[in-house]
Amino acid sequence: MEIEHIKEKIKGDLGREIFFYKTVGSTNVIAAELAEKGAAEGVVVLADSQEKGKGRLGRFWISPPGVNIYMSIITRPAIDPEDATLLTVMTAVGCTIALRRVTSLNVTIKWPNDLMVSDKKIGGILTEMKTYPAKIIFAIVGIGINVNIDIDVFPDDVRKTATSIKNETGILSSRAEITAEILNEIDRWYRILKGMGKKILLTEWQRLTSTLGREVKVTIGKETFIGLAESLDDKGRLILRLPSGELKRVSTGDLTILR
Ligand code: BTN
Repeated sequence: MEIEHIKEKIKGDLGREIFFYKTVGSTNVIAAELAEKGAAEGVVVLADSQEKGKGRLGRFWISPPGVNIYMSIITRPAIDPEDATLLTVMTAVGCTIALRRVTSLNVTIKWPNDLMVSDKKIGGILTEMKTYPAKIIFAIVGIGINVNIDIDVFPDDVRKTATSIKNETGILSSRAEITAEILNEIDRWYRILKGMGKKILLTEWQRLTSTLGREVKVTIGKETFIGLAESLDDKGRLILRLPSGELKRVSTGDLTILR
């Protein structure tokens, strides 16, 4: 991937400085280390491959070389740790708009952090943060996009639920172009979020999601809730209408669309 091509296309603050590695354990870990040492907001860590790519809930993110995007953005938002889900919301919105523009695919957001095309996962977001005592010191927004990967490379179980841009469009895409588009679009939404535009962001998320209005199952640890995904609250939590009629707010979990 040509870092110069990305830098030429960067319009905002995110990605003005990019650290590129041929291979890392996880870009989220490297970004956290840089943030610990004082790296500024907007610094991006990008890798061609990851040996210990992290997915949500302790899962592994398949990260072979030469094909996909693995990047992490350092942010230092002046928001409550309670509102940190909004960083994932902002990233999902930015990625979805950028991917739709570049690929023309109908990318949608599956709560809380999946980027989907025709009911298969094309990308994911992992937000991790350091707080002290009740403030966010930094938050690392990690983004993985399956760009040119041949889905035959995935193990059987993953192949049923995952896809890539190449698999959907039949053509190879420029990782540099997509990376720059994503960074520019997230930059735009980050500015909106910081400028008190939380409502605008949440409205945009609702426009781009495929989760609302569906009957869903959400598993949180050992608990499972089935209900209608009604809306998103102002902290980015999903509001479920349980069969009893009661409303349940969930801030994290594993979601399956039932109907
Ligand atoms: C998920 O859907 O489970 C989240 C996947 C996040 C993967 C990205 S790849 C770049 C960054 N570094 C990591 O180790 N994970 C995230």
